[in-house]
Amino acid sequence: MKVIGINASPRGNESNTLKLVNAVLEGAKAEGGAETELVDLYKLHIEYCTACGTCYQSGECTLLDDFPDLFDRIMNVDGIVLGAPNFIDSVPAPMKAMFDRMADAIHCQMLTGKYGCSVCTAGGSNQDWVVGYMNRVLTTLGATAIGDVGVAIGRDPGALGLAIQDAYKMGEKLARSIRGEHKYPEQDEIHRQKRDYFCQLVKYNKDRWPHEYEWHVKMGWIQ
Ligand SMILES: Cc1cc2nc3c(=O)[nH]c(=O)nc-3n(C[C@H](O)[C@H](O)[C@H](O)COP(=O)(O)O)c2cc1C
Repeated sequence: MKVIGINASPRGNESNTLKLVNAVLEGAKAEGGAETELVDLYKLHIEYCTACGTCYQSGECTLLDDFPDLFDRIMNVDGIVLGAPNFIDSVPAPMKAMFDRMADAIHCQMLTGKYGCSVCTAGGSNQDWVVGYMNRVLTTLGATAIGDVGVAIGRDPGALGLAIQDAYKMGEKLARSIRGEHKYPEQDEIHRQKRDYFCQLVKYNKDRWPHEYEWHVKMGWIQ
């Protein structure tokens, strides 16, 4: 069992959000013996998507930066933990840049079969919007979102300690989910509908997007 934590705070080891990401990883390690790795997104160089469409066509990106290696690492794990501080009611720019580079992965539902969860710290509010957004992105990519932990710490620094405990428990649940011990029928249905939708889209664009067509055929989603 492999789990990757991706934290998007500019504050490196001082990041409060990092404490939550690490707690999830610790929980997954304790419950499932997960092999874990941590990525500080601010240490990577991730360019903005240029919407050239080459990835739809060939599966390759024309930009030369750290994204392809990061995506290979994501494809190599069973569980993904996303961490972000609330930056103006959304995720920090590097996290959004990473998401925007995954349009091909969304068309191909490349995170199918993986499990994920999200954590956020905020100064004052709307941490739930941010974790909700990150979990929706995971679901849109084909992964199953097993939970979230969001906490506002500006006026209650003690809240972080409780959130760390919740994050640890969520890590345990992540490991159990990967082992197949939790069922998510509602998300299974959402994934079925998304696969159907993207199958139709990819079939319609078969000549322009040969890589995506071949992916869907290889997965057995297009007969
Ligand atoms: C650019 C910026 C934007 C922020 N926007 C919000 C916000 O909209 N709402 C909020 O509650 N806190 C906001 N904060 C506060 C951070 O979310 C909060 O300090 C968070 O715990 C930082 O996490 P970190 O230690 O992992 O970097 C913002 C902080 C920065 C630097």
